[in-house]
Amino acid sequence: MDSLTRHTDYGATGLNEADINDDPMAQFATWLQQAEEADIFEPNAMVLSSVEADGSPTSRTVLLKGLDASGFEFVTNYESTKGRALLANPRVALLFPWYALKRQVMITGMAAPTDDPTSDAYFARRPQGAQLAAWASDQSEPIARRDILDERMAALEAQYPEGTTVPRPEKWGGFRVIPTRIEFWQGRSKRFHDRLRFSAQPDGSWVRERLQP
Ligand SMILES: Cc1cc2nc3c(=O)[nH]c(=O)nc-3n(C[C@H](O)[C@H](O)[C@H](O)COP(=O)(O)O)c2cc1C
Repeated sequence: MDSLTRHTDYGATGLNEADINDDPMAQFATWLQQAEEADIFEPNAMVLSSVEADGSPTSRTVLLKGLDASGFEFVTNYESTKGRALLANPRVALLFPWYALKRQVMITGMAAPTDDPTSDAYFARRPQGAQLAAWASDQSEPIARRDILDERMAALEAQYPEGTTVPRPEKWGGFRVIPTRIEFWQGRSKRFHDRLRFSAQPDGSWVRERLQP
C-alpha cells in the first residue's frame, strides 16, 4: 500500500487569470478537449452527487453526454437512486476527476429532466444492446441473481432482433444541469495548487475568484 505514504509532485503548470476564459463554460470545453487529447479513459466521466430525502449525499459516476453554453447533460434511469433523488431535490454536484492532467473541475447546480425529444435523441444514439439494457434493468433495485437479468435480456433480444427500432422506456432519459458554481483546480508543486471559482450572478454574468489551495 505504497500509495498511502507516497508523495507525488503535481508539477509546475499553473492556472493564471490571464489564461482562463471569462466564460467558464467555454473554459470547461477547452479542458474537456485537452482531456480527450490526453487520451485518458472516459474523459467525459464525472462523479455526480445528489441528496437523498433524509439528507444523505450519494455519489456515482455518469458520462457527460451533452454540453452547450448553459448546461451539462447526462442520461440515466429516472427511477434509480439518483433519478428519484434528483426529481425530489434538484441540487447536484458534478466532479470531473482528471487526475492524469493534475486537474479537477467541480460544478454545483440544479438538475432537471430533459424534454422528451432530447431524451429520445439520446436513446436513439445508443447501440441497440445498451437500449435493451435500459429496458431490462430496474436500475438500483436489488435482484436475486444475475441469471434473471440475462433471461430478461435474452427475451428482449428475441423481441427486438438486430436492426429493429427499440422505443425509449419512459423511465429512461436525460437530465440537464444548470451550473451555479464552477471551479477549475490545477495541481501544483508543494500542494500549493491553483483554484479559480466562477459564481453565476442573477443577471447571467459570472464572478471569478481565486481560492486558497
Ligand atoms: C465510467 C462509468 C460511467 C457510467 N456512466 C453512467 C451513465 O452515464 N448513466 C448511468 O445511469 N450510470 C452510469 N454508470 C453507473 C453509475 O455509476 C451507477 O452505478 C448507476 O447509475 C446507479 O446509480 P444510483 O443507484 O446511485 O442511481 C457509470 C459508471 C461508470 C464507472
